[in-house]
Parts: sequence; C-alpha cells; structure tokens
Amino acid sequence: MEERMAQLAAETERLRLGGGPKAIEKRHSQGKLTARERLALLFDPGTFTETDLFVKHRGTEFGLENRELPADGVVTGFGQVDGRTVFAYSQDFTVAGGSLGEMHANKIVKILEMAMKAGAPVVGINDSGGARIQEGIDALNGYGKIFRANTLASGVIPQIAVIMGPCAGGAVYSPGLMDFVFMVDQGSYMFITGPEVIKAVTGEEVTFETLGGARVHGTRSGVAHFVAPSEQEAIAQVRRLLSFLPSNNMEDPPRLPVTDPIDRAEPRLAEIVPADANKPYDMRDVIRAVVDHGDFLEVHAEWAMNIIVGFARIGGMPVGIVANQPRVLAGTLDINASDKAARFVRFCDCFNIPIVTFVDTPGYLPGTAQEHGGIIRHGAKLLYAYAEATVPKITVVVRKAYGGAYLAMCAQSMGADFTMAWPTAEIAVMGAEGAANILFKPPEGAADVAQARREWIEEYRRRFNTPFRAAARGFVEAVIQPYETRAQIGRALLALAGKRESRPAKKHGNFPV
Ligand code: HXC
Repeated sequence: MEERMAQLAAETERLRLGGGPKAIEKRHSQGKLTARERLALLFDPGTFTETDLFVKHRGTEFGLENRELPADGVVTGFGQVDGRTVFAYSQDFTVAGGSLGEMHANKIVKILEMAMKAGAPVVGINDSGGARIQEGIDALNGYGKIFRANTLASGVIPQIAVIMGPCAGGAVYSPGLMDFVFMVDQGSYMFITGPEVIKAVTGEEVTFETLGGARVHGTRSGVAHFVAPSEQEAIAQVRRLLSFLPSNNMEDPPRLPVTDPIDRAEPRLAEIVPADANKPYDMRDVIRAVVDHGDFLEVHAEWAMNIIVGFARIGGMPVGIVANQPRVLAGTLDINASDKAARFVRFCDCFNIPIVTFVDTPGYLPGTAQEHGGIIRHGAKLLYAYAEATVPKITVVVRKAYGGAYLAMCAQSMGADFTMAWPTAEIAVMGAEGAANILFKPPEGAADVAQARREWIEEYRRRFNTPFRAAARGFVEAVIQPYETRAQIGRALLALAGKRESRPAKKHGNFPV
C-alpha cells in the first residue's frame, strides 16, 4: 500500500510540473504565471480540486506518439471563490504551447458540462498556441465541441474567459461565446488571422499588439470587457465580478447585508448635474453617489464610452446599471453603444439581476457612418433587449430623454416597471430647437424674427421639454428630487423583488443581430 501511495504522490508531483522546471522558470522570467499559479490566485486558498490530471493524448503522428504532455496541457477542476463553487480550466503554455488537442478539448467540455449540472460559473484561462497541429482535425473537432458546450451553457451559468497569452484563429470563439472577456495589457492577444497572414493577403503590416492586444480589444473592438494591468489584477477583477453574480440562472444574485442606509439622501446629486442641458458632466459621479459605498464595477469602461454599463449594489442587492454618458458624444446612442448596452441588459436578464437605467440622451448620433453602418439593425438590439427582459427594470430620467433614444433607454412603454424623472428632465419627442426648425414660421410682419423664434423655442420648451407632460400621462410614475434618487430606487427594488412576468411560449425570439 505504502509503495502505491508513494508512487501516486511522485506521479502527481511530476505531472503537476507540466512542462518541467525549466519551462516554468522561462515563464517566470517573462513575467508570467503558470497555469496552476493562476488557479491558485483565483480560488480561495486550499479549495481547488483538480480533475483529469492523468489524461493522456492519443496522437500518433509527427512525433506525438513519443511525447508525454502532462495533463494534456490544460489544468481543470473546481474550487471555491469567496466560499462559492466555481469551475475552471487553465491552459498550460509550458506543455506544447498550451495547444489544444482532442483530450485537452474533452477536459474543457467536461468542465463546462459539470459546471452546468452543478449550476456554478466557469472561468476559462486561455494561453494557447491554438489547435495542436500534430492532431489535425481531431483538434479542430475539439474546438467545435467546446463552442457547442459554451453555447448550451449560455444563460445557464456565467462564463468568464481570461486571456493571458496567445488566443488566435478559431480559438477566439470560445471566449467570444462566453459572457465576459478579460485581457491582460501587454500580455495577451486575440485575432482570427495573425500579422503574417494579413501581410500575405492584404500587404498590411501590423504587430500582434496593434492587431489584437488588450488595448485594441478594450477600446476599439469591444471584444474585451475588462483590461487589467497584470495577471494578478485580472484574476482579482474576476473574483470581484463573480461577487455580483448568481451561480446560475435559477438563483438570485447574492445579497449582502445593508451596510449603507438604503434611504440615504444624496444632496450632491443636484450639484453634479448642471441645470443647463448643454453642459456635460460625468454620469459615473451620479452612479457612484447612488450605489452602496460608491462601489461600481464598470464593464467595457473604455469602449463605446457614450454609454456606461456595470454592476453595483443598492441596499446590498446587486443591480446592473445602464446610463448615458453626456461627457462622450453628448450621450448620444450609436452602433457600439447599442451593442454594448444590449448585451449587458441580456446578461442581467439571464441571471436575474435587476436593471437600473439612468437617462440623459439627446437622441441617436446622426451621420452617414451610423446609417450605413446599420444603426437601425444595431439600435434595434437595445430595444429588443429591454423589451424582452423580465427582471425588475427601474428607469431614472435625469435630464434629456428625446425621441427614439428615450424609448431605447427603457421607457415605460418598453417595459420599465418604475420610471422616475428629476425636475430637470426633458422628456419629449425632440428638442425645442429642432422643433423650431420644422414648425416655426415667422409671424407676419414680425419686426424681429430672431426674437420671435427665441420666444417660440422658449414656449415649446416650457410646454413640452419637462417631466410633467410625461407625468400627466402616467408615463413616469414619479417626479422626484435628485437627493432622493437612491431611496426611491431602493424602495422600488424591494417592491419589485418578487416580480414575475411571463412571455408567450416560443422556441426563441429572433434577436436582431
Ligand atoms: C503544437 C505548438 C503549437 C500548436 C505552439 N506549440 N503552438 N505545438 N501545436 N498549435 C509548441 C511549439 O512547437 C513549442 O514547442 C512550444 O509550443 C512553445 O512555442 P514557441 O513557438 O516556442 O513559443 P513562442 O515563441 O512564445 O510563440 C508562441 C506562438 C507560436 C506565437 C503561439 O508558438 C505559434 O505561432 N504557434 C502556432 C500558432 C498556430 O498557427 N496555431 C494553429 C492555429 S490554427 P517546443 O516543443 O519547442 O517547446 C487554429 C485553428 C483553430 O488554432 C480553429 C478552431 C475553430
């Protein structure tokens, strides 16, 4: 018995070294952690259970038949994050470049399936040279199985991808199918075709970093939801994100004790938002003033910055926040803002997270670039996402709420459960200037046309660009003082906690992609 136990211990220790001490040292010298070190940071100390350590590849070609690839290049298992079960896999670059073969893929699929059965989130740490070239289509087939498993798990358990090295070719689509993608600045890249292929096909010259580095995906493509300065920071952010999420679609998000009074008055709010509708301000200041302890986890913080999305708590209850950002493009909605917010709203709806929307938008961004880029198609996503969502939806109109953009920001007619407006709100079909351009006719014989026009605009503004028209129709339930925003949202959240809303039976809707 003792001999067998000693054998097991020795074998386990050997396999856990992956590509061996030299390869590990090389990683460290490059400032990178190993697959196992990353998991150790992710999980609460001592809680990780590894699965399938002894799995072996079945490759028989190009020398693979004589090579041992410990754990087949991916560490899989489960453990606890803040005391809650999470499943994970972490590709081991020290083993054949973390390349994905048949058995490597099987291990990942198994983890995804176990996580789904257990109803627990999955975190996938990607660091791989892609399809294991010696295994050919067996590797390709493995990717297909992962993509399918990612798709089946979508909306059942939260799926988080962390990119900590190469992630190229079709491999990018597993992260692309997951809910959130984290990237490490200067330490990761993602692209479908690399710089060499691009040069051969189009003649264009790019570096790995400018083609698919973290900054590019965090600011231009929107592929990365979070960009972290280091691997350690990325994993800390993953843990923080998980703290807002339920383990699966059947659970409510984890509620914390109330440590910030839910009815806290916030006089600062009236100072943050200028009464002059043309003056910008930072909507994040409004959000931070309203939520518990000012703690706001922004998603996509540097992409499509004209809209803000992220997680926070109000009275200990996790909420998803969507808000226009008047500081960027005047808070207009455009293609990327619509895509960003629509995906976020759908995520919240999948996982029972109430949505609080702050509105201050003059409308859609005008221009041929937007029209030809398909703003109709993309903008429709946000309308669809809000109308489809059955979680509690609370809307606060802070200032401008014009036309289609007012509706797209979860107006009552789109299904908001409780809509509030500040006295500064301007809920109208369009701005007074725009209305004047269409309707104003100089009175006959007017001595001062410009003055007549100014008066006309003032009259329109007085009558239509206020919250009281909407309130008179019951389109907003309450016109509130800015300082009571948090208290009102908190009460509405409590009142709506038991909300149940059903939808007509169907296979699924046809989301406008
Ligand atoms: C097998 C691979 C591999 C792969 C790397 N390795 N990628 N082995 N299949 N795809 C091995 C290397 O042979 C080497 O083995 C070890 O991993 C480390 O690789 P290096 O090249 O020494 O590391 P580095 O210089 O850091 O470069 C990393 C790299 C490069 C940029 C990822 O290895 C690379 O370009 N790899 C190939 C990428 C690729 O073309 N993959 C296939 C894409 S097709 P030794 O034994 O020397 O340690 C694809 C399709 C997916 O992925 C489709 C899904 C639908």
